[in-house]
Amino acid sequence: MDHQSKYEPTNGFTRWIDSRLPVVRMAHDSFIDYPTPVNLNYWWTFGGILTFCLVIMIVTGIVLAMHYTPHVDHAFDSVQHIRRDVQFGWLIQYVHANGASMFFLAVYIHMFRGLYYGSYKEPRELLWILGVVIFVLMMAAAFLGYVLPWGQMSFWAATVITNLFAAIPWVGEGIRTWLWGGFSVDNATLNRFFSLHYLVPFVIFAVVALHIWALHVPGNNNPKGIDPKGNQDMVPFHPYYTAKDGFALGLFLLLFATFVFYLPDALGHADNYIKADPLVTPEHIVPEWYFLPHYAILRAVPDKLMGVIAMFAAIAILFVLPWLDSSKVRSGRYRPLFQQFFILFVVACVALGWAGGQPAEGAALLVSRVGTIYYFAFFLIILPLLGVFETPREMPNSIAEPVLKKPDSPPELEPDSTGKPAPVPAE
Ligand code: HEM
Repeated sequence: MDHQSKYEPTNGFTRWIDSRLPVVRMAHDSFIDYPTPVNLNYWWTFGGILTFCLVIMIVTGIVLAMHYTPHVDHAFDSVQHIRRDVQFGWLIQYVHANGASMFFLAVYIHMFRGLYYGSYKEPRELLWILGVVIFVLMMAAAFLGYVLPWGQMSFWAATVITNLFAAIPWVGEGIRTWLWGGFSVDNATLNRFFSLHYLVPFVIFAVVALHIWALHVPGNNNPKGIDPKGNQDMVPFHPYYTAKDGFALGLFLLLFATFVFYLPDALGHADNYIKADPLVTPEHIVPEWYFLPHYAILRAVPDKLMGVIAMFAAIAILFVLPWLDSSKVRSGRYRPLFQQFFILFVVACVALGWAGGQPAEGAALLVSRVGTIYYFAFFLIILPLLGVFETPREMPNSIAEPVLKKPDSPPELEPDSTGKPAPVPAE
């Protein structure tokens, strides 16, 4: 959103910099003065939390890489060495391992927020698409990273996922060999996964920069989903949202610290404490919790290739979401029917997550099938049709209108002692 820059360099040095490379001005305009809707709620604090997570993951990852050895004979032991021998290695390793879970928790909340408040709708389509690109890259980074400790789950997760590509007709097996860098998941695989795992977060960083740029052109959406109408609908980002985001980050850190210090292995899998053994398959191969819904979709379809297609389609469909939703009303707050279907959608995603963690049989298989059908129906049938059939609730003209009392509005009626409204005073 265009606004006049209020940044004024205070001394000769900052003036000199400003006339040559106005980065401080840019940062000031984007994160201090930046006009922000007055009514952003706590769901809007997750973008800042995600930025924090990304930085933490990169910093801890760089330190881990200083002590980690990407070789099938040493990888497992080098992680144990980090935990036991490196100064604060245990802390850095647990922050990185649990940080991945925290990152996904935050990104799922961020995405559901966007979905509910229609933040993907015109003019924020590209902002949303860049978000989906980040999500895909995050999944790649998490998968690649999970292989590195070279435990049993690492090895078998790599084997299961790379084998999925072999289901593609004609070229599948070639792709799988190309991904492996050989004829099985082995040293070449581990080495390239390490190399890519180091690279991808920096690509994410670059896409996040574009994401925030694409946010700052149209400006933030808000819980009402209506465009701000003037000064009374806006506040500067600092101190209002720096304080709110900081407070939310503090709460988020409490949860993060609880896992790191009290439950450091709760989100992991015990089998990853066993060194990878290509000759012993674990009883249940399960991915980390954040991949469980996708895993459920994969296994819900009896045919392997169709399962792979369904799993990738479940992510790809997010790219076209801005064009699937036919409703002109952005915020779910004014869409009574959408609210109900949205709650069911959240329930379906959680149920898929549960089913993904169970053996693919009986009730779990049924839940994953029903969940998969609802997941796709939500995007392909419900959202396109709702815009046509739904009658939205009445919306205010501006963000501030319902809050600020208008000068010509009639005086408010105070109830008397009997609870009945007092008579209207005579003119
Ligand atoms: C590393 C991951 C990510 C980071 C660091 C990040 C960062 C941010 C930040 C700082 C904001 C502004 C504050 C806020 O609205 O919370 C934002 C807004 C937004 N993000 Fe993300 N984001 C990430 C991932 C995603 C993903 C995966 C999606 C969707 C698929 C997404 C979609 C959006 C949308 C639609 C908005 C605009 C929200 C609004 O104004 O209503 N982001 N993001």
